[in-house]
Amino acid sequence: MKILVTDQDGAEHELEGLEGWRVMEVIRDWGLNIKAECGGACSCATCHVYVDEAWLEKLAPPSHEEEDLLYTAPDVQPNSRLSCQILLSDELDGLKVTLAQSAAKDSEAA
Ligand code: FES
Repeated sequence: MKILVTDQDGAEHELEGLEGWRVMEVIRDWGLNIKAECGGACSCATCHVYVDEAWLEKLAPPSHEEEDLLYTAPDVQPNSRLSCQILLSDELDGLKVTLAQSAAKDSEAA
């Protein structure tokens, strides 16, 4: 399955992923600019992405933990999610997300 990821410079990447993987892991393993400091433990918010509106309702709703953490991200928007909390499934084949500036490796935010 594939996901489409727009990086912080506006370039779009089509990345191959596997069912059950976290979106954060796919982005990281393909070498895009994502800090993902806590490694997916839902405690850093440096895997922040914006989910394309058309895909938002297909995602499982965020946990309270994820919501609380998202409030700490500086550039949060209504379509913000933590990419380590999105598990790939067949339904999400083609998912489109955009990396937030605060997810960049050299970002001092979050
Ligand atoms: S990698 Fe830390 S919250 Fe997602």
